[in-house]
Amino acid sequence: MSHVSRRKILGGALAAGALARPAIAQGAPLKIGLMLPFSGTFAALGENIAAAFELCLAENGGKFGGRAVTVVRLDDESDPAKAPANVNRLLGRDNVDVLVGTVHSGVVMALVQAAREKEVPLIIPNAGNVAATRDLCSPLVFRSSFSNWQPAYGMGKVLAARGVKKAAWVTWDYAAGKESADGFRDGLKSGGAEMIQVLTLPFPETNFQPILAQLPGLGVEAVGSFFAGGGAVQFVKDYAAAGLRDKIPLCGSGFLTEGVLKPQGAAAEGIQTALHYGDGLDNAKNKWFREAFHKATNRAADVYAVHGYDAGQMLAAGLAATKGDAAATKALAAGILATKIDSPRGAFTLSASHNPIQTIWLREARNGENKVIGTAAEALADPGTGCKMAA
Ligand code: PHB
Repeated sequence: MSHVSRRKILGGALAAGALARPAIAQGAPLKIGLMLPFSGTFAALGENIAAAFELCLAENGGKFGGRAVTVVRLDDESDPAKAPANVNRLLGRDNVDVLVGTVHSGVVMALVQAAREKEVPLIIPNAGNVAATRDLCSPLVFRSSFSNWQPAYGMGKVLAARGVKKAAWVTWDYAAGKESADGFRDGLKSGGAEMIQVLTLPFPETNFQPILAQLPGLGVEAVGSFFAGGGAVQFVKDYAAAGLRDKIPLCGSGFLTEGVLKPQGAAAEGIQTALHYGDGLDNAKNKWFREAFHKATNRAADVYAVHGYDAGQMLAAGLAATKGDAAATKALAAGILATKIDSPRGAFTLSASHNPIQTIWLREARNGENKVIGTAAEALADPGTGCKMAA
């Protein structure tokens, strides 16, 4: 064998060996794929989640578990049809080690499926699709946000305790709308009240007039709703413009007035909602966080920013347990589950199905703020129905 060809073979073997060595052993940065909406009706939500996630990373010196982190952003447009290809892009083209995403309950299912099949850790920093922490719960899927059921349950419970007997729910026709309606129904029922109708329109449409026209004839004492982002701005404005504000009080999952009070203006004043966060929550972490987020972005923090920041905190905890190795999935999961997350919403731990156990606050929109005025449901866990966690 000639000198040259042996060198070639040896070189090839060395190259193959280097490839086989895990990236962490080569000192390569950990790659985190941030799949979020950066366009469309949920664009502002995605921007705040991403900015707060990066704030958490910056606070940790750009490292999790002592390992440098590279963030790869991908705009999922809140389009479920594009979701499988987008997830494949992050895993196949970008070779990410960890997935963080997303906002939309339909889109998140492609991420959950990939996490389950490819054994990649996934932190969900918003989407409340109950399946992710119920039937399709999985050892490597964690949520830093809420289940769609939780805030709406709190709202229904408050109304029933106030003596409301009949209410309706208005929402988009997709998982988050349907599941929040279920939560509202269960909350009302817990106090002997009833949800008599759910009115829907396709996501992300905003022609609310046909629905608004039906509401006065329903004989309900309250209208609850799930809308968010641009759609929530329009719904609250249209509800007021239809002259319904003083006839049937509007309430909802807190997303209805979250991060959108400025464009909603006077139309939002006095609207009560239930959510696991409120602007003025009186704890040290929230005070620090609101200042730090504003300094970093020139925007006010909201629940979406909190979800993004806490997704970072959860990953920091998991990767601290593995010294930055995302492939050590058992230890990473154990690290996340063992940690009490010091969140701006108040400290929380995860339930057995990996969803935050958290207090749902009653808030009222006053002067451009979602002020906490009471507790809707204390230390509320999603039921986690159907979750069988294979170890
Ligand atoms: C969802 O699709 O799960 C969703 C979207 C926006 C929100 C909350 C939930 O604000």
